[in-house]
Amino acid sequence: MLISRRLGSILFILVLLSLLLLAFDRIRQPARFDPNNNHVPTWTRGKRIACRGPRGRFLDKSRDDRLWEEILDIPYPEPAAGSHEALKLRKTWMTADGRYGAYGYNEGKESYSRKRVNWEKVEWAKLQNECLQRNRHRFFDVAPVSSDRRFELRPSMWKEKIPLLKQPAERPRVTGRTAVVLRGWDSFDFTEEDYINLRSMIVEAALVSGGEYSVYLLVHVRNKSRDIFANDVNYDEALQDIVPAELRDIAVLFDDRLLESWYPDVESHHPNLQIYQALQLFSHFYPEYDHVWNLELDTRFTGHFGHYLDALSNFAASEPRKQAKERASFFLIPPIHGTYADLTRSINTSLSGGGQWGPLLIPDIPHPLGPEPPVPTPEEDDFVWGVGDPADLIAMNACANVTRTEDWVYRDWVFRFRNGLATPRMFCPPAMSRSSRLLLSAVHDAQARLGLSVPSEATLPSFALWHGLKLSFPPYPWYQSPASSPADLNNLFNGGLPGSIANASEGMAYGEGMYNARPHYKQTNTATWWWSSPFPQRIIDAWWGKGKWEDVRDGDGRELPSVLRWHVGRVWAPNLALHPVKTNRAPTNS
Ligand SMILES: *[C@@H]1O[C@H](CO)[C@@H](O)[C@H](O)[C@H]1NC(C)=O
Ligand SMILES: *[C@@H]1O[C@H](CO)[C@@H](O)[C@H](O)[C@H]1NC(C)=O
Ligand SMILES: *[C@@H]1O[C@H](CO)[C@@H](O)[C@H](O)[C@H]1NC(C)=O
Ligand SMILES: *[C@@H]1O[C@H](CO)[C@@H](O)[C@H](O)[C@H]1NC(C)=O
Repeated sequence: MLISRRLGSILFILVLLSLLLLAFDRIRQPARFDPNNNHVPTWTRGKRIACRGPRGRFLDKSRDDRLWEEILDIPYPEPAAGSHEALKLRKTWMTADGRYGAYGYNEGKESYSRKRVNWEKVEWAKLQNECLQRNRHRFFDVAPVSSDRRFELRPSMWKEKIPLLKQPAERPRVTGRTAVVLRGWDSFDFTEEDYINLRSMIVEAALVSGGEYSVYLLVHVRNKSRDIFANDVNYDEALQDIVPAELRDIAVLFDDRLLESWYPDVESHHPNLQIYQALQLFSHFYPEYDHVWNLELDTRFTGHFGHYLDALSNFAASEPRKQAKERASFFLIPPIHGTYADLTRSINTSLSGGGQWGPLLIPDIPHPLGPEPPVPTPEEDDFVWGVGDPADLIAMNACANVTRTEDWVYRDWVFRFRNGLATPRMFCPPAMSRSSRLLLSAVHDAQARLGLSVPSEATLPSFALWHGLKLSFPPYPWYQSPASSPADLNNLFNGGLPGSIANASEGMAYGEGMYNARPHYKQTNTATWWWSSPFPQRIIDAWWGKGKWEDVRDGDGRELPSVLRWHVGRVWAPNLALHPVKTNRAPTNS
């Protein structure tokens, strides 16, 4: 009896030991790049703990707060470019009711079946902070979301007070958190649609993720006579006057004076040329975030927003660093390339296993902040380096070589670089992306100390390149109307197949749609995600039942925008991102 008990404990300990060893072995194993499986568990923060939503109930237990996502037995529309499979995005369908009902869509109708909410009373910062507290063991910094002012004009003697970023000791520490920053301005007139959209983003990103994301509204106060940084009274008055009650506790204000004070040697502080200055400062003053998403208010996500961000982040983390610059210049067109792994292989073949390796050194940045390559040449790395590392930059469009563009109006806007126009630069328009604190700090430093500047769309990709930071352009699915043939689209954006592209330099794609777009607007301005395209608006109008689409019924004979479908008397949208969908026009001048 005694012996068998002892034997039992010994056996138990042995089993435990071998399990531990196995687990350790798994941790120790370097992540391998498997082109057929890009799923990498990005971050072992532990399980997300459910949080309360705007109805005061826990989101995992509340039907009224839920999205009604369906997998329908109808063919899913094939994207013009990108792929749900590559991103591991679910092929869900939703009606506008199922998508936005939880956030007040159609709440005025008698048929509204969810519990109604008094939205003005919802405290979005408080909900985010409760969620963060419930999950606090998963983060290294749980500074709360708050509208208390942190931005300060640049103090004198700042150079002495704030140390220069150096590699690698002073690299920012990891906190496990990402900010989603939505850009507004003082005359923005929030409509019902904007509120519903923002509520969906806060709930699905911040609350469903157990606090991994925090949502902020970053508001440009263009009226300089408000002088918001002169004293707290001015700031608080502006906050009260400009930001609607429901969004006030997640709002952060800035003005041109703040940007001018920090970046006196940069030629412009205008959002058209320097959209990231406010974001650089956000990252500087809110160091509890490893990454910051910069999104505009005219974006819509027809599927679960938080899951969409997770998919982009997981894809980008699963990418190797080798040939990242080259891959980021290609649009994946499945009928032409096959899977993303196929595209990756053919890019590798076109580069004979080479490509950009580590930073692209320029004299102005002699000490890059990125990690040093583990082997001297790319040929020695079997796509292992960087797999599992979060990307420093997730671009939401393909990237191109600035110096070779023919009609980009800001091409020659480059200041204080020793080699001037010969400085290699890259741009990934439009300027919406996720960037790491390290990347934003690098730009902040260079602008504040040296006035080094390139235009918005070129800022993050160029600094990422010069510092050897990780870049990714995930092949998220997008659609076109009218649709081009896959071959035409491939020529327009990629200029052909890897290895047979006229004008290609450094293994990057070279399509007129990126390098000489103006003559091709008819074909480029047709996408569900582009800087200018009427298609996203048409989709939202038909889906939401706006204007001529009010009270649509199955079979009433009208043809829906091509990605939507009639099914059991309702209009359904697949899972995709849309931009632009306007409720307000952006100011053209400040
Ligand atoms: C700008 O702000 C000042 C000071 O608060 C105010 O008097 C003025 O009406 C504002 N101008 C506009 C155009 O809103
Ligand atoms: C990349 O290309 C090199 C040179 O052609 C080749 O040796 C290597 O096997 C390729 N790697 C992959 C993963 O296709
Ligand atoms: C852009 O092309 C030029 C000329 O081919 C090259 O020197 C430069 O390095 C390229 N820039 C990038 C970012 O690859
Ligand atoms: C290649 O570049 C030159 C000059 O930049 C341009 O005139 C020509 O149209 C380009 N060719 C193609 C196929 O894009």
